[in-house]
Amino acid sequence: MRAEKFHIHRVAGALGAEIGGVDLSADLPGATIADIRAALVEHQVIFFRGQRLAPEAQVRLGARFGPLNIHPYVAGMPAHPEVMEIVKEPEDRVNFGGGWHSDMSFLERPAIGSILYAVEVPEFGGDTLFASQAAAFEALTPALRRTLEGLRAVHSAAREYSSQGHSAQRRKSMSVVEAEGAVGEYVHPVVLVHPESGRKALYVNPAFTVRFEGWSARESRPLLEFLFQHCRSEAFTCRFRWEAGSVAFWDNRQVWHYALNDYPGQRRHMRRVTVDPWPTERATPRAAALAGAD
Ligand code: SIN
Repeated sequence: MRAEKFHIHRVAGALGAEIGGVDLSADLPGATIADIRAALVEHQVIFFRGQRLAPEAQVRLGARFGPLNIHPYVAGMPAHPEVMEIVKEPEDRVNFGGGWHSDMSFLERPAIGSILYAVEVPEFGGDTLFASQAAAFEALTPALRRTLEGLRAVHSAAREYSSQGHSAQRRKSMSVVEAEGAVGEYVHPVVLVHPESGRKALYVNPAFTVRFEGWSARESRPLLEFLFQHCRSEAFTCRFRWEAGSVAFWDNRQVWHYALNDYPGQRRHMRRVTVDPWPTERATPRAAALAGAD
């Protein structure tokens, strides 16, 4: 059932849609939440404008889609540990999320979605890019698709969050907890079958994927590099221009994103909640049937 006054328009060929007519701070009926979830799965990233989301309201909204993640290496708001403040001050040189990635792929059970709300945005710049990993998978030859479907890859937060890492080293405005000694490695399929749609997507990313399972890092590098180049091809992307009050909700199971760092001397302030899978989340029967269909 589609909720009243729910408008969707697509913003690019591969992914992305803007949704109007929904107040995300309201106590939304289950049918509207189901419609938003369906739009997320179909369009991979969805955008809303003109919202007013206090941290409590953002937590309430996120929790309708799954348990909220508390980031292991980035401190959340003191009163709302599930809410991560993503801030770049005018004097900061490095931003958070300034490279292609899929949130939390370094965890045993990676996040399914992220909801980012813009509090303050620069006058120009600071857009976020998104890339459809489903479109990237579908553009490969059948032979390479088959090969990749037989592989699994190792993901780790070490490169990003250890004391030598990008996040810990070069930005002062966010509290990054050093992950030295606490960083595990987790293995995920290289091709993820979306548990709700059955659509297949590549699930490796330059920030967190370190090698293929059973392959050395050196052996893995050429194929990973090929995939990293391929996956960010322009045809698979869309770009979101933020305004204060904008919200982006992306599906980490089929999308990469990249926060552009092109606004030196200006402030950008966002808040993110990150949605984990339900403890019992499994592929729906329809998704399992579709995944087995080819
Ligand atoms: C992120 O979650 O990686 C940050 C995205 C952004 O700030 O645009």
